[in-house]
Amino acid sequence: MSREFSLAEIFQLGYYWETKILLTAVKLDLFSALDGKPKTAKEVAGRIGAHEPTLTLLLNALVALRLLTKEGDSYGNSPAAEKHLVRQSSQYIGHLLVLHDAEWNNWGKLEETIRTGHRPVDRHVFETDPELGSNVLAVLHRIGQQSGPDLAKRLKLSGRERLLDLGGGAGTNAIAFCQVYPELTATVFDLPATLRLTEKTVKEAGLESRIALRPGDFNRDALGGPYDVALMSDILHYQTFESNAALVGKVFTHLAPGGRLVIKDRFLDEAGTGPAWTTAFAIHILVNTQQGGCYRTGDAMSWLTKGGFTSVTELEKTAVVQGMKQ
Ligand SMILES: C[S@@+](CC[C@H](N)C(=O)[O-])C[C@H]1O[C@@H](n2cnc3c(N)ncnc32)[C@H](O)[C@@H]1O
Repeated sequence: MSREFSLAEIFQLGYYWETKILLTAVKLDLFSALDGKPKTAKEVAGRIGAHEPTLTLLLNALVALRLLTKEGDSYGNSPAAEKHLVRQSSQYIGHLLVLHDAEWNNWGKLEETIRTGHRPVDRHVFETDPELGSNVLAVLHRIGQQSGPDLAKRLKLSGRERLLDLGGGAGTNAIAFCQVYPELTATVFDLPATLRLTEKTVKEAGLESRIALRPGDFNRDALGGPYDVALMSDILHYQTFESNAALVGKVFTHLAPGGRLVIKDRFLDEAGTGPAWTTAFAIHILVNTQQGGCYRTGDAMSWLTKGGFTSVTELEKTAVVQGMKQ
């Protein structure tokens, strides 16, 4: 049994001031303004276009949060801020925090959403701001490079297959799969705007001869093929139950006999109360997408079965399911 919360922990859970302080500093690109050498509040205000006395309060709070240092009147970046929050750094992750900030107002409408059942958005921020979407995918690609090889090894492919990475984003999985299986070839299918980033990451990995890019809308356009393995990684939670069922059935028709479809997503358990992170993610999807949802593993298994797949199995609890085409 999990232990009881203390009063202090309940207060901590309801406390978001520091979150918004960090998000605002990243949105103002304050850490980049401090790149290099320490500066006074006046100098920073001049660089980012801010009201100096107000900015000073923010700078001081960031010192208390240990993201900045202060000596005399001068502020500087902490080593972690210099590494991850300065735009010019190769390890910058600010795009992801800017995304959280862009979704802030939608979270503010959670009460109304719960009362009425009406969602506050009609389009996901990636549709209204494709550049931000692409920047976020690039960050996720950099920090998520370990999960791809692990999944590739777990699937135990024979090695010579043709892979379809549907909604493959930056190509993180296609690249990892090709690195694990030197004879594998892959197609990354995604929206044309996203594939501009994929072209870069595939080139950086030196895999242009083995990874093809196919632009299109997976709900509307033909997917090419036939393929031996299709992967749907983190795409189904943006769509409705019905669209997912239709898409799974569509992929079936693009697979060769003996092929398989692997779905990796953030599934809820049967009770809907775990994994803990996914229960919060389900609320995030509720307020930030027009029609997405977090589904249960059983839902994905039913899409596979209805789509014609056999030997439908859960390979990793609340994370990966697979079906075979006979
Ligand atoms: C969360 S990302 C997942 C990327 C990748 N599969 C991964 O696991 O890293 C969702 C991807 O689905 C793509 N996408 C969304 N709707 C799409 C559609 N209708 N047709 C093709 N791609 C789509 C987005 O462009 C984005 O690259």
